[in-house]
Amino acid sequence: MAERIEVLLAEEDIDKRIQEIGDQISRDYAGKQVHLVCVLKGGSFFMCELAKRIKVPVSIDFMSVSSYGGDTQSSGVVRIVKDLDEPLNDKHVIVIEDIVDSGRTLSYLLDMLRSRGPADVRLCTLLDKPDRRVVDVRVDYTGFEIPDEFVVGYGLDYDQKYRNLPYIGIVKFD
Ligand code: IMP
Ligand code: MG
Repeated sequence: MAERIEVLLAEEDIDKRIQEIGDQISRDYAGKQVHLVCVLKGGSFFMCELAKRIKVPVSIDFMSVSSYGGDTQSSGVVRIVKDLDEPLNDKHVIVIEDIVDSGRTLSYLLDMLRSRGPADVRLCTLLDKPDRRVVDVRVDYTGFEIPDEFVVGYGLDYDQKYRNLPYIGIVKFD
């Protein structure tokens, strides 16, 4: 099916907001080192931009979980596809996500990461769709709250396409 993309958040606005979150994290973790855990693939663009703007020492790791197929609906099934390379013991972990939708993926992931002995675990997401929440998840840093629309760009895909768009757009089918 052909689709078109309507701009929701422009590149400059996203850059500005990421700078603000970077400043906030630098203040909140003053004197500490943060360990950014990127949830692949969607969180990768956001994490790279954010990491560059954090002023305290940063280490990074990646994990991949599956929750969506080629569809636009959450399956509710979460599976670890790629686990972290490093242990989390005593680290100040910040999980970096592209979007919190139903919250199912994050709820599972956060419980799992907290069981690995970190000093603390916070959640940072570029986008939040609060209207869609099914499972209660505490978000510590949010880029933008957005309406219940399927969005792409800045790491987010529709059927593996559009991750490279430098802005966030709504997918329109018409
Ligand atoms: P949740 O478990 O329903 O919160 O789903 C979270 C994951 O679903 C995100 O990390 C995305 O990979 C995907 N997702 C949710 N909403 C969207 C969207 O609007 N566009 C693209 N991917 C989405
Ligand atoms: Mg994701």
